[in-house]
Amino acid sequence: MGRLFIISNRLPVTLSVEGDKISATASSGGLATGLSSFYKDAGGLWFGWPGISFDDVDAETGRKIEELLINEHQCGAVKLTEEDLENYYYGFSNKTIWPLSHYFTNHTVFDNDLWKAYKRVNQKFCDTVVEEIGDDDVIWVNDYQLMLLPNMLRQKLPHASIGYFHHIPFPSFELFRLMPWRREILQGLLGADLIGFHTYDYVRHFLSSVRRILGYENILGTVSSGYRTTKVDAFPMGIDYEKFHKATKMPEVKHELDKIWQQVGDRKIVVSIDRQDYTKGIKDRLEAFHIFLHRYPEYKEKVSLIMVTVPSRSQVPSYADLKSEIDELVGKINGEHGTLGWMPIWYHFRSVPFPMLIALYSFADIALVTPLRDGMNLVAKEFIATRPTERDGDVGVLIISEMAGAEKELGEAVIVNPFDHDSVADSIARALRMPAEEQRRRIIPMQERLKRYDITKWAGDFLQTLEDIKSQQNRLYSKKLSGRLRQDMFERYGKSSKRLFLLDYDGSLKHLEDNPMQATPDDEVLEILSAITSDEKNELVIVSGRDRATLDEWFGNLQAGMIANHGAWLKHKGQEWEMLEPLDNEWMKNLRPIMQLYVDRTPGAELEEKEFSLVFHYRRAVPEMAHVRVSELKDDLRTMTTSLNLGILEGSKVIEIKNTNINKGNSGLRFINKAEWDFVMAVGDDWTDEDMFTVLPGNSYSIKVGLVPSTAKYHLNDVDAVRDFLKNLLGLKS
Ligand code: UDP
Ligand code: G6P
Repeated sequence: MGRLFIISNRLPVTLSVEGDKISATASSGGLATGLSSFYKDAGGLWFGWPGISFDDVDAETGRKIEELLINEHQCGAVKLTEEDLENYYYGFSNKTIWPLSHYFTNHTVFDNDLWKAYKRVNQKFCDTVVEEIGDDDVIWVNDYQLMLLPNMLRQKLPHASIGYFHHIPFPSFELFRLMPWRREILQGLLGADLIGFHTYDYVRHFLSSVRRILGYENILGTVSSGYRTTKVDAFPMGIDYEKFHKATKMPEVKHELDKIWQQVGDRKIVVSIDRQDYTKGIKDRLEAFHIFLHRYPEYKEKVSLIMVTVPSRSQVPSYADLKSEIDELVGKINGEHGTLGWMPIWYHFRSVPFPMLIALYSFADIALVTPLRDGMNLVAKEFIATRPTERDGDVGVLIISEMAGAEKELGEAVIVNPFDHDSVADSIARALRMPAEEQRRRIIPMQERLKRYDITKWAGDFLQTLEDIKSQQNRLYSKKLSGRLRQDMFERYGKSSKRLFLLDYDGSLKHLEDNPMQATPDDEVLEILSAITSDEKNELVIVSGRDRATLDEWFGNLQAGMIANHGAWLKHKGQEWEMLEPLDNEWMKNLRPIMQLYVDRTPGAELEEKEFSLVFHYRRAVPEMAHVRVSELKDDLRTMTTSLNLGILEGSKVIEIKNTNINKGNSGLRFINKAEWDFVMAVGDDWTDEDMFTVLPGNSYSIKVGLVPSTAKYHLNDVDAVRDFLKNLLGLKS
């Protein structure tokens, strides 16, 4: 494995520059706090924005910043300007992607200028880091501000291992489809080898958008985008468990605890800590606390809510508005319920240093974590880690929103719907009354889980998966027909005098079209095929699933052999069509009505009746529905075809039922066995071509189109690469 590079918008340290004094503080937010516990030990170098604009930074200060970052923090700076920040960071990242991904369409802005800035700044990240990174290094891109970066890096570093982790929710297709630049964003992400999300729900949503928007299918989370594959999986982010668990014993924390105690005494404490963000449900939480005070007056003067909100993205209007709304609400509740000696809500609008954070977690009886939508939420996990389960007695209660990704791993917590204020209020009362034994029964299994899958395990798991995928891809790359392999083949071609070409058409010589009838051969493909046939040492066979009439119409003028209907018919050069073997179509009578029923129940699907097969086409059907129907149909067909000599063949958005003896292998053999060839080459892109590859003589060239697993010996990227390759082979291009 090469060196590790982490890239994110925000660095783990935020700088401030006053005169010639540069100081650094720890950044807030789950990405920065989580990964900062890991990257130094892993020897990684982290690139990102250090929190200042670089417009007014002179060369000397710029140099000092770089030195400080690299020497003390293992970081490198991406130098963003005011304009970058306004349009890319406050703009497209936080006015478009963030609200849309958190289901806040009312805060979502679609503006082409912001999109252009997003593209430009992603490119700036790319240009900054490629200077440092080599093709064999490991690059870990993080989060929604950099969704175009994986593919930009891929263009420059085709062989690098590129992982991308998305720290926020991936919304359902219904939301994501609103994004005018949805295709570009998905393509940007698919430049990565591995894409990670916190939960399987986000994985599902992403795969569904990829299928519906780009038309790329996946097999068990591996998306095949033509000539590349990308693995998509869930890796729920952990925390540095030991750091939080042990921190409660630090003297600085004890000091902070004393300070809190002096303020609130031995009242019960509910704590809430978030960045000030509308997704965190802070207003709803206050409303719920207000209801609690009304409904359970016996807790007046006995319970306080300590609420820390960390200033965040305040230049975005929806964040600035939130500040005044929260101020007002806190004032109203304290005014209505507070007494001389008791303030219901202690509200702090600032970030807190680590010892104070730990003191707050450990002082609290209840953590109230009620985001309206949250990718993960590390605060909930950090609270659990600080619980004193070693000693007897109360250990505290976590109340968590079902809309937080963390809820999936914290099922023993008290789970609430943050929009249901009454129930949140009741849950606070329930938590306050919960017996110590029940508190422990809930907290201990959560602690064990978080201890097991901590930040090191999480990052290690992600990077290990990336490494595994890379070795799989390298095995495929080693079969790519380029360089020496290609040269050897050209030489053998030159020396041979009896050559056979078995060429699949759709997807190999011609790009797949949504409407298959538009796939008529173009001039380039005809030029290539004619060049093959015009050399008398060559014999060409076009191998296809199409019918005889179409092949005759398209290729009838060529001196070529043909295989039609996946092998049911074949024709030697200059001769008549013949059937591979006599076939009985009786089975169609029974299966046709069943397949027709599926077509009727699947809008957009069609049934095609070929001479020897029935084909269920679903390219134009809604993918999710088609997916379900196809599984049901296959199941039904399997039961009905077991005693018949029938096979179910899956192609690109089609299911075809036909006699099992008919395949491109059996028909191909008729050509292979005809002569003593000294050069055999077969090209194919899909499942049906594998039969052809397996019957080829040992020293043949079997070529799979696309970098996906196959029994073929070699690979070419795509149709363009096949054409380019053949043109070079045939001397049509030097
Ligand atoms: N945090 C912080 N400074 C503070 C308060 C909190 O750095 O003053 C940290 C907190 O410990 C946690 C992170 O900020 O690690 C918040 O992460 P979370 O996943 O809960 O939410 P995010 O801010 O990433 O949406
Ligand atoms: C969330 C995002 C991070 C971001 C953090 C703080 O955790 O997933 O990418 O860094 O919030 O937000 P900020 O805009 O201050 O970087």
